[in-house]
Amino acid sequence: MIWHAAWICPADTMGDICPEFFRSFSEKKAIKKAVLRITALGVYEAVLNQKRVGDFILAPGWTSYKKRLQYQEYDITSFLSEQNELVVTVGKGWYRSPMPGWGASPEWKTIQQAPAGLLAEIEFLYEDGTSSFLGTDLTWGCRESAVRFSEIYDGETYDASLPIASSATESSTPAFSATPFSAASSSTHTFASAFSSSNMDKNRSDTLPVMEFDGPSDSLIPQEGEKVTEQETLFPCRIFETPAGETVIDFGQEISGYVELHLTAHNGEEVLLSHGEVLDADGNFYNGNYRGAKAKLHYICKEGFQTYKPKFTFFGFRYVRIDSFPGGPSAVTRDNFTAIVIHSALSRTGNIRCSNPLLNKLFDNIVWGQKGNFIDVPTDCPQRDERLGWTGDAEVFVRSAALNFDVERFFSKWLSDLRADQGTDGRVGHVIPDLLGDGASAAWGDAACICPWEIYLAYGNKEILSASLPSMEKWITYISTHTNDKNLWTGGTHFGDWLGLDAPSGSYKGSTRDDLIATAFYAYSTSLVVKARKVLNMDASYYETLYSDIIHAFRSHFTEYRTQTECVLAAYFNLASDCKAVADQLATMIVSCGNSLQTGFVGTPYLLYVLSRYGHLKLAYSLLLREQYPSWLYSVTKGATTVWEHWDGIKEDGSFWSMDMNSFNHYAYGSVIAWVYNEAAGIQTSEDGPGYETVRIQPKPDTRLDWLSASLMTRHGRMESGWTRQGDQWRYEITTPVDAVIVIADETIQVKKGSYVFFSPLEEC
Ligand code: BGC
Repeated sequence: MIWHAAWICPADTMGDICPEFFRSFSEKKAIKKAVLRITALGVYEAVLNQKRVGDFILAPGWTSYKKRLQYQEYDITSFLSEQNELVVTVGKGWYRSPMPGWGASPEWKTIQQAPAGLLAEIEFLYEDGTSSFLGTDLTWGCRESAVRFSEIYDGETYDASLPIASSATESSTPAFSATPFSAASSSTHTFASAFSSSNMDKNRSDTLPVMEFDGPSDSLIPQEGEKVTEQETLFPCRIFETPAGETVIDFGQEISGYVELHLTAHNGEEVLLSHGEVLDADGNFYNGNYRGAKAKLHYICKEGFQTYKPKFTFFGFRYVRIDSFPGGPSAVTRDNFTAIVIHSALSRTGNIRCSNPLLNKLFDNIVWGQKGNFIDVPTDCPQRDERLGWTGDAEVFVRSAALNFDVERFFSKWLSDLRADQGTDGRVGHVIPDLLGDGASAAWGDAACICPWEIYLAYGNKEILSASLPSMEKWITYISTHTNDKNLWTGGTHFGDWLGLDAPSGSYKGSTRDDLIATAFYAYSTSLVVKARKVLNMDASYYETLYSDIIHAFRSHFTEYRTQTECVLAAYFNLASDCKAVADQLATMIVSCGNSLQTGFVGTPYLLYVLSRYGHLKLAYSLLLREQYPSWLYSVTKGATTVWEHWDGIKEDGSFWSMDMNSFNHYAYGSVIAWVYNEAAGIQTSEDGPGYETVRIQPKPDTRLDWLSASLMTRHGRMESGWTRQGDQWRYEITTPVDAVIVIADETIQVKKGSYVFFSPLEEC
């Protein structure tokens, strides 16, 4: 689209202070409709006539900025009056905040050097059929905002004690009367001439000139993803003093978002807050695991009653430490704080409940983990100095994500970024958007194939496959051209079975062989290319041959399986010639480990599927219901409110697994919820009718639960599957919005859409 605006930025640097751009304008003609089109190099908040425009938090969102920068459109007709002022504050956001945890690539560092740029235009459509534009150009002004500092990782400083900036009615703001549009100057100016010292606003900082610059143009795209919005509020459940004498607020739930302050204070008094996820073994505030992320909120008060919430940052937290508060920390009351949860605006689609309260808490924790990490990009964690779109984490969780919430649009946008960032040789970055610019790891890069396929299966829309197929194939080409052995993926640098419990001492990588993982995913991704081509009615013979060659090579090369994850991959991906035997071996390994798992990021998502599909359902449930470490429920017994990065993030004695890699909100192991939907409740779509057009429901109960019930809102309607123990029988209640195949205790029944009740004898699995 053609913009009738130029990129502007402050003519002089303001350091860390976020600039506030402004423009006043008046309208004489009758307006039928007015639309604000806007984006920024950073994150913006637009306020028109003192009303916030839209509810998008951290707009324009996080994309692969070198190729794609979203803009948003807002209908602002109802905001307008005769005299108007548009004020837009621009923070650093993902575009310009330094990334303390990992060294950004030179390319990304260059992107981060960008100025605090704004591109905006209002399109006026008049009752008489004519139109005009008001775009950013040299007639805009800027000044320092009250946001003195704001970064994604370090937090925000806001000075409310500063005098209020000029309003639309003051003569200091440049005036605009809509005239038919004339194209914005394409030349780049070093200094604006529109302002002289006589009309500068002296209230906060001098009104400063803006300058135009050559900002992104080819990469501008309309909003693609779901907008991030404020979703819910939480109130403090307790305010207490720790043994160390600090005052801490507990919101009772780990969230991503921020607090809103409500207080009465004197001009210049300060509030300083630190954020944390957990308390340490002594019950003290702790956030050493945030590593380089300062995650602080600093607010300088004005006189009287006031409220404040940050504009351009967010935190992953449950606890807030009061480092400073008017009247001292002990003056804090519950009324002073509200926690606001933010995440991408996704509709909830799936729910599971059962008779075990700990399992229900686990399901809740998984959903909270998804909310906390689905802030425009699927991230590893929301608190420490990473918060990155790690491909491996997204790949292991995508199926669960698509069951809990409608994530079709969310993932479609992220996959567009993946494709934009993919190397010409097919390399897929460790994180998307690709800030790191290095490497390609098996199971991480395979997100290029697995995520589109899972989204297709969940929603049945072929478009994600046609858009992604070239990228999927490029990934296969990358592997084929970066391996030491034909038809195996050997060599390279991989994350392995990340955080597997069979890791050698001092390593994060489980003992599963890199080459086995890499070849297993090479085969799996190739099989998905075959399937995708067939869905798209394309010839798949080249990839079919490659797939069977990889399987053959895998079988000749890996003649034994040494770890739980090796067994899981060999069986789940149908690589072994006798998958049942491998699943039996897996079961034996688990039993000899004291009925416990050893798997990391790569093996865990598939572990229970292999057990339940090859005759070890009872063992699968034993792992699911296990409460001692290592297990899913261990963290629940330790008071977790989200899913931990490590099976033992907090050990039995209250000490931490580690200082430096210990997130308490990492969704990867939450991928177990997909098994509960697919196997325990038995709700499955099929490749023949993806998006639940064709459905198979095969519930698999266990007598250690009295009942379990799952529901899923699909594109075709609501599905439900549940079972209850009734005397010596299982009673199943199933609702299907489409014709379905139902399998109850080995009996297969073809049914029309509708609701059904079945019974089967209560047998030990
Ligand atoms: C992240 C992970 C990620 C990993 C790569 C970590 O720092 O938090 O979740 O997948 O690095 O192995």
